[in-house]
Amino acid sequence: MSALLEVRHVTRRFAGLVAVHDVSFALAPGEILGLIGPNGAGKTTLISLISGTLEPSEGEVLFDGQAITRLPAFRRARLGIGRTFQIMRPFPGLSVLDNVAIGALFGHRGGQAQLARARAQARECLDFVGLGGFADQRADELGGPGRKRLELAKALAMKPRLLLCDEVMAGLNHVEIEEVIAVIRKVREQGIAVLVIEHVIKAIRSLSDRLLVLHHGELIADGTPEKVLADATVVQAYLGARRTR
Ligand SMILES: Nc1ncnc2c1ncn2[C@@H]1O[C@H](COP(=O)(O)OP(=O)(O)O)[C@@H](O)[C@H]1O
Ligand SMILES: [Mg+2]
Repeated sequence: MSALLEVRHVTRRFAGLVAVHDVSFALAPGEILGLIGPNGAGKTTLISLISGTLEPSEGEVLFDGQAITRLPAFRRARLGIGRTFQIMRPFPGLSVLDNVAIGALFGHRGGQAQLARARAQARECLDFVGLGGFADQRADELGGPGRKRLELAKALAMKPRLLLCDEVMAGLNHVEIEEVIAVIRKVREQGIAVLVIEHVIKAIRSLSDRLLVLHHGELIADGTPEKVLADATVVQAYLGARRTR
């Protein structure tokens, strides 16, 4: 099967710092790919290079065989790349529903005329992530777990073929984590590919078809979760210090 996403030799520098260094990987349609690594490893930067909020210093990003390396984020959203943000920024004065409707409008052409349709689509997405009962609340009244789901609903409202999740389980308890895992599985059942950044190893192990490990901006492993989590280099770089989890 041909790749949905291809990242080819991508490097991103910030002044003197190399946040992502010569990273290459591919993602198949409908695949769930996990991405782990210590804080500062370059995970969020890599997602931003794919979604278009950042451009690489070197290398290429291809979606569906088309180079998207220099396309702005809204164009990539329209091609089918949706993302969540690690640092959640809901529009505080707006309802939960309208926060998601904005995601729907961002992902499609049509603007204001499409607002009613966007709201209908937003309602579907809220039901999908289990926030249906909160649609008319103000977004800033949601607690942490609700905001994580809101991020997911916003990204899903863009009708993505690839969903990029940046730590959507951070700060959640075991029950909430299981619920988010179930939502991501449902997303995949719809044929949507998912790239998941996560620190909760148990969650990433059970979710991922394949696992990537970033360390100091370099890809140090790419394989099945079983193989990668047993890899001596990975254990030393990342898992060793996390044994207690
Ligand atoms: N906009 C930026 N400007 C300067 N440095 C950045 C910027 N974004 C990220 N970095 C740096 O790049 C490195 C990787 O960051 P990040 O991608 O956020 O890592 P992770 O998500 O794996 O924790 C870190 O050293 C971080 O400080
Ligand atoms: Mg991050």
